[in-house]
Amino acid sequence: MEKLIINGGDRLKGDVTVSGAKNAALPVVAAALMANGESMLEDIPGLRDVFCMMEILGAMGASVSFQDNVLTVNPNGSEFAEPPYNRVSKLRASYYLMGVLLARQRYARIAMPGGCAIGNRPIDLHLKGFKALGAETSIDHGVVELKASRLSGAKIYLDYPSVGATINIMLAATLASGLTTIENAAREPEIIDLANYLTVMGARIKGVGTDVIKIEGVQELVPAQHRIIPDRIESGSYMIAAAATRGDVYVRNSLSEHLKSLVAKLKEMGVIIQEDIEGVRVTAPNGIRAVDIKTLPHPGFPTDLQPQMMALLTQVDEGTSMVIETVFENRFMHIDELKRMGANISLDGRGALIKPSPLSGARVSASDLRAGVALIIAGLVADGETEIENAYHVERGYEKIELKLKDIGADLKVV
Ligand code: EPZ
Repeated sequence: MEKLIINGGDRLKGDVTVSGAKNAALPVVAAALMANGESMLEDIPGLRDVFCMMEILGAMGASVSFQDNVLTVNPNGSEFAEPPYNRVSKLRASYYLMGVLLARQRYARIAMPGGCAIGNRPIDLHLKGFKALGAETSIDHGVVELKASRLSGAKIYLDYPSVGATINIMLAATLASGLTTIENAAREPEIIDLANYLTVMGARIKGVGTDVIKIEGVQELVPAQHRIIPDRIESGSYMIAAAATRGDVYVRNSLSEHLKSLVAKLKEMGVIIQEDIEGVRVTAPNGIRAVDIKTLPHPGFPTDLQPQMMALLTQVDEGTSMVIETVFENRFMHIDELKRMGANISLDGRGALIKPSPLSGARVSASDLRAGVALIIAGLVADGETEIENAYHVERGYEKIELKLKDIGADLKVV
């Protein structure tokens, strides 16, 4: 998908179903390499990032197959070669293989993950954890090399509750000897989902979802079956789009307990959220008001919904909103694109002030997958036609997004 063309003005109406969570699937697929045998993973979303991870595993000698959102992975062997550079450099989440390979073969050599549009994305906390477990780490010519004669449990304090570092250290600690404690750990639902899979494989993990995670190392992990949780960011993106277009959308397979901060904010704005066992219904019959947003680690407001929320805030009926981004240092690239469509946003440092204004269609460019969806939401409410370039970013995190949006009344086409 190179370009998305949207004709704005339609209210979204109908029923959209959320796919499995990208950010749970990626670490779970990598972790399957730690079992001796075939794991079966269900509700895996058919996304570019997932296919990229599959290609990496295949290139390393594992057998992988994907059919109807079910992914089977069999490591097939003991020693894994270095993951191929050309694929690793395309998928940041391939760095989970550091924890997996260190745990499984006490050695890992993998290209450094690149930075990206939203920030330089260091991995210092990951390496701090691996060193604490007994690994020697070196970075040479953009390649990280980790080796350990043995891995022993340790107490690790994370200076920042990094999702990636929490996951990578947890992966390595499952096959270390002794107890590992991760303090100031990240609490995202995707980490809980990974821990549930690892536990069925035989890992001993306590406290996931709190800021202290304890892992008692075990000798080996066995294959397991696991169903991935629904994608809370995809779910939130459709909820925000429904509110922005003043529509009436049922977001199926949406776990509102994973979206407490978004639901609270939308209700604060006057959006009506009706929850039932299957999902949530989103309407805004009484209009919507401005609100302030500050992104924080879970359970705070998710940074991955900040761009989408900003598009909504340009469409409130009254009031000025303030958005503060505390997680990434450069996650405001969508502001310039929204301003090209007529948005009234002023930026000072990490804070953005948004006043309501009508939007008109324009040619805009997506800088990353979440900014891309923010531009889609803006295009849905804008007057006229919006052309979104670099729309391929969106395919990385939103399964069948053009079909799902068309099914609820969006007038868009893929070029
Ligand atoms: C995960 O990235 C997600 N990616 C991101 O989603 C998400 O925005 C982020 O968590 C925060 O929720 C995946 O799960 C694949 P972090 P991650 O480590 O693990 C700093 C999307 O749109 N930091 O919690 O990289 C870092 O620079 C993506 O799906 C260090 O300083 O996030 C950042 O400022 C975008 N040193 C902050 O922590 C480290 O060693 C949060 O990063 C690691 C991180």
